[in-house]
Amino acid sequence: MPATQRIQYHQYGAPEVLRLEDFEPRQLGPDDVLVRVRAAAANPMDFGIRSGKMKMVTGRCFPRGMGYDFAGVVDAVGENVTRLHVGDEVLGAASIKGSGAFADVVVADQAGIVHKPAGLPFDAAATIPIAAGTAYQALFTVGKLQPGETVFVHASLGAVGRSAVQLASTHGAIVAGSCRPGSEPEARTLGIDPIADFDFNPTTITRRFDTVLDAAGTLPIKKARRMLARGGRIVSVKPSPANMFRSALPGPFHVVIGKFVTADLEAVARAAGDGHLRLPIAHTVPLAQAIPALTQLEQNGFAKRGKLVIVPG
Ligand SMILES: NC(=O)c1ccc[n+]([C@@H]2O[C@H](COP(=O)([O-])OP(=O)(O)OC[C@H]3O[C@@H](n4cnc5c(N)ncnc54)[C@H](OP(=O)(O)O)[C@@H]3O)[C@@H](O)[C@H]2O)c1
Repeated sequence: MPATQRIQYHQYGAPEVLRLEDFEPRQLGPDDVLVRVRAAAANPMDFGIRSGKMKMVTGRCFPRGMGYDFAGVVDAVGENVTRLHVGDEVLGAASIKGSGAFADVVVADQAGIVHKPAGLPFDAAATIPIAAGTAYQALFTVGKLQPGETVFVHASLGAVGRSAVQLASTHGAIVAGSCRPGSEPEARTLGIDPIADFDFNPTTITRRFDTVLDAAGTLPIKKARRMLARGGRIVSVKPSPANMFRSALPGPFHVVIGKFVTADLEAVARAAGDGHLRLPIAHTVPLAQAIPALTQLEQNGFAKRGKLVIVPG
């Protein structure tokens, strides 16, 4: 087998724990797929998981690979896998426990892998799975958004927010949202109307919304409630203990936790393939230079200009 390197770490911690090292991909289970990675993309959760914030879920088995989102070509499949074949071009995400997409090859469960639309470049495909998959489930599975309804997307230019705006518009919804002051022209090009800044006063927004999606996890619930139409739903991307508790109570507030649902991933892949969904790429770096790029991204804040894409050599 050709080179198999990945970005991995031997303990949870700061960016200094990251190493680019040779590794042996794990043996395929019946539902596993081995993918030769052509592009991978970073998400905020990569940093939280490396720092150990989710160690109750991710465990203490080291070394751990880093990264979830990938696009590539199927190299081998487990015995239960009939939907995907060696040589297929795919996009997908590794499981929370598995991870390891910043690599030459990744092993992932088939549920989180779908065919890549033919015209969609590998780098664009790699930006889609987690951000757009979460946006899709937030809008439609949790937010129950229907064509003709109204949605307000807080943080509408981040990866989840921007995905939500495009998916909601394609679904026939009317989209409003917030962005950082100065970014209004960019928000306007996505058809967002009206556009508020992050600290907006909800009394200045007269329209009422069937779904309010907080795509940054920073929107005070009181503000969200003021903008809600009768029977409307508030959906937050932030699964904090307080939000999880509130979400369990009767009422309009819900938290989305992205899940591997193949049909949902197929829907967002189709939207990307049809040209209805694109996330900007800010930087593309080879795997050999990815650790400094990831460190810089983490330290300078995320997504000011778009996704970081990592391309194996
Ligand atoms: N629950 C889940 O399953 C799930 C799945 C995926 C992501 N997430 C979470 O969703 C959030 C967004 O993820 P992402 O991939 O979209 O990240 P991202 O691309 O970095 O976008 C974050 C957005 O938040 C904006 N922002 C920064 N500070 C803000 C503030 N004080 N108020 C409002 N907006 C602010 C940013 O604006 P600027 O770019 O102008 O700074 C950016 O638009 C993250 O917290 C991530 O962990 C949750």
